[in-house]
Amino acid sequence: MSAPLIDPFQRPISYLRVSVTDRCDFRCVYCMSEDMTFLPKKDLLTLEELDRMCSTFIRLGVEKLRITGGEPLVRRNILSFFHAMKRHLDSGALKELTLTTNGSQLARFADELVTAGVRRVNVSMDTLDEDKFAKITRWGRLPQVMAGIEAAQAAGLKIKINAVALKGFNEDELFTMTEWCAARDMDLTWIEVMPMGDIGNEDRLGQYWKLTDLRARLAERYTLTDLPDRTGGPARYVRIEETGQRIGFITPLTHNFCESCNRVRLTCTGELFMCLGQEDNADLRAALRNHPDDDGKLEEAIRAAIALKPKGHDFDYSRQSVDGRVSRHMSHTGG
Ligand code: GTP
Ligand code: 5AD
Ligand code: SF4
Repeated sequence: MSAPLIDPFQRPISYLRVSVTDRCDFRCVYCMSEDMTFLPKKDLLTLEELDRMCSTFIRLGVEKLRITGGEPLVRRNILSFFHAMKRHLDSGALKELTLTTNGSQLARFADELVTAGVRRVNVSMDTLDEDKFAKITRWGRLPQVMAGIEAAQAAGLKIKINAVALKGFNEDELFTMTEWCAARDMDLTWIEVMPMGDIGNEDRLGQYWKLTDLRARLAERYTLTDLPDRTGGPARYVRIEETGQRIGFITPLTHNFCESCNRVRLTCTGELFMCLGQEDNADLRAALRNHPDDDGKLEEAIRAAIALKPKGHDFDYSRQSVDGRVSRHMSHTGG
């Protein structure tokens, strides 16, 4: 067994998030601009290369693998990659294989995901209103996502809904979304909007809805109990006593959780981003392609990258301006 990956701030790295494509069948307004330029296909890691990369991380102690994008399920043949990763679940080295998806392709793939060992899926959905959904995703259609969620639950997948908290957009749906999720036995996590990527006509400050405020509004109607539950991700949870469901809060702005960060991100071209909110990255594709038969060289490159993991992000809206912004889009690093 190799020595575990420990960063300069003594944080063990046990969670790898992998963006398998920068493409998406939606164009969410806070994530992408309308006319995105996508990466040429030849720059992408092949599915075999993704396998080699992830397997090396797992050998170095990664126990949780989350597949993201863009929309991971629009990458051709991606299910074969999930099936390949199942061997690490079977060996016990990997504790969780999961994905974050917009839900559009779930109806097609839910059964196969279960066969590949996936148990839990996070579906991004910011509103229950068809017109608002079409507006915020530009290209998305709510009934398609609803059908995906239904198929996933029928296949036995546990669903958590992720919603970006947006002032003037879904504020009025706080209770309807809570109750809709409760009725379907789903947890719901709210995310503070982060300043990532040029999205055209940007108004990050105007959109920003603090989760401290959101939580206070929830507490006006329900009894909230703080939970110690940790899923290995950044969300902190409460239980709503009246409905029994869990509500998660991801608060990069109001409560920085970087001190307990356990994760790094691999993009579809093999860059390793050591922090979602910083520009530093390492080119693991070169290490992989220059040494096709030597995982030792890849391991060296991974360790060198982890040694550069920054302390945390610098996102900050507190001066009534957007500070700490990063230039790449969320779809590049996969959230
Ligand atoms: P589980 O607990 O495993 O269900 O995952 P999660 O709720 O922590 O969330 P998920 O992986 O679906 O990520 C949701 C969103 O949280 C991401 O899209 C990001 O917006 C945000 N997020 C996740 N990890 C980080 C992080 O390290 N830093 C920051 N700033 N945001 C993060
Ligand atoms: N800030 C916060 N969350 C974002 N997401 C996309 N862009 C942003 C942003 N700027 C979320 C999506 C999805 C996940 C992949 O990232 O809504 O839940
Ligand atoms: Fe696609 Fe997700 Fe970005 Fe929306 S947030 S455009 S679904 S990658």
